[in-house]
Amino acid sequence: MEREAVLVGIDVGTSKVCALIGEVSRDGRLTIMGHGTVPASGLKKGVVINIDQTVRSIADAVERAERLSGWKIDRAFVGVGGQHVESLNSRGQVAVTAHHREVTREDVNRAIEVARAVSIPSNRDVLHVERRGFTVDGQEGVKDPLGMSALRLEVETHIVTASATAVQNLTKCVAAAGVKIDELVVDSLASAEAVLSETEKELGVAVADIGAGTIDLALFQDGSPFHTRVLPVGGANVTNDVAIGLKTSIQVAEELKIMHGTCDLRQIDEDEQISVSVLGEDAGRTVSRLEVSQIIEARMRETFELLRNEIRAAGVGMLPAGVILTGGASQLAGAAELGREVLQMPVRVAAPAGIGGLVDTLLNPSYSTAVGLLQWGASALAVGEPNRYESAPAGGGIGRLRDAIRNIFP
Ligand SMILES: Nc1ncnc2c1ncn2[C@@H]1O[C@H](COP(=O)(O)OP(=O)(O)OP(=O)(O)O)[C@@H](O)[C@H]1O
Ligand SMILES: [Mg+2]
Repeated sequence: MEREAVLVGIDVGTSKVCALIGEVSRDGRLTIMGHGTVPASGLKKGVVINIDQTVRSIADAVERAERLSGWKIDRAFVGVGGQHVESLNSRGQVAVTAHHREVTREDVNRAIEVARAVSIPSNRDVLHVERRGFTVDGQEGVKDPLGMSALRLEVETHIVTASATAVQNLTKCVAAAGVKIDELVVDSLASAEAVLSETEKELGVAVADIGAGTIDLALFQDGSPFHTRVLPVGGANVTNDVAIGLKTSIQVAEELKIMHGTCDLRQIDEDEQISVSVLGEDAGRTVSRLEVSQIIEARMRETFELLRNEIRAAGVGMLPAGVILTGGASQLAGAAELGREVLQMPVRVAAPAGIGGLVDTLLNPSYSTAVGLLQWGASALAVGEPNRYESAPAGGGIGRLRDAIRNIFP
């Protein structure tokens, strides 16, 4: 396999930090060479609330991935989460340069600049300006307008923004762990890279990455995202409810949920009892499996209702490819069935696929964001000039290159 580049992805999640080192081949295949996952303690609902703890988690995850792979991590694609992430769609219209009356790259760039010029408060950072499509002299749905004869060019963009201070705190932590940032990528768009197919994105689909503290949501239509949001609920809320409802510790509740819980109450025998264990020792207490699962089902139903309302609020009529659930908490037994009932759409649970190398633990919904960050980086290479990346000077790097490339090849 001819190597094109070595990339790194770091998912700084509420429950864990995961660093992955991957090798991209010339034909775009991804091989995992290093992996480090450690529990995270400095975040709340996807946002850094303790710098020291977060730096330590990132440094630990990075060190593990380095030791496993023999590579030194210098720079990485880093995921951004948290409820402060917002999105909007903006159009930009320009007159095509009078010269030839043919759309040039410069016209495209000018249109994007106009679309980008919507008023975004100074306390927000623009993370992404994804181009959704072009309208050429009133003709909608043009994917590539270069070379077309036209008088007017209009671009439709999807802009993702985040709180500038939240981004700064994350950036600070990554820097303090000794890693430079290639590009900041919103978690939901990274997860989408890992679990959505091009066909699904064309048809209309949502990815909902249900983590510990948040749901990272992105809606796609005609091949590109049009709504990106983060909802402040996740698996930790389910665990909390179980702990409160059954008066147990969080650790016991987490184990009850993962080992015995389900959202599908029809599966449960009314008098089924579970013996509670603490640190592997029988604690001499039993709880009803039905009771545990009723608590879980209620919270998950409410979670899917939030998701349904958010999808409706996005103004989408139909998502023919439905909702793709991923993230650690999507593994809850019966989640897809309950999701289908509440959302009234096709729902399935998805995990990263199609990667090689050290993948044993990674083909799991918990790792969609981390794997997706590598795939995001790999697709940046696919549209670019690989030789330029390999010889990119320090401080240059693929993030900026990706932007440069996108300006060349819209
Ligand atoms: N087998 C399982 N069944 C049910 N829930 C699970 C299972 N495994 C993990 N979880 C839940 O998944 C959650 C962690 O998911 P994940 O690793 O995707 O979160 P994260 O990325 O750290 O958090 P976030 O994305 O919210 O910042 C926890 O709430 C955990 O209880
Ligand atoms: Mg996550």
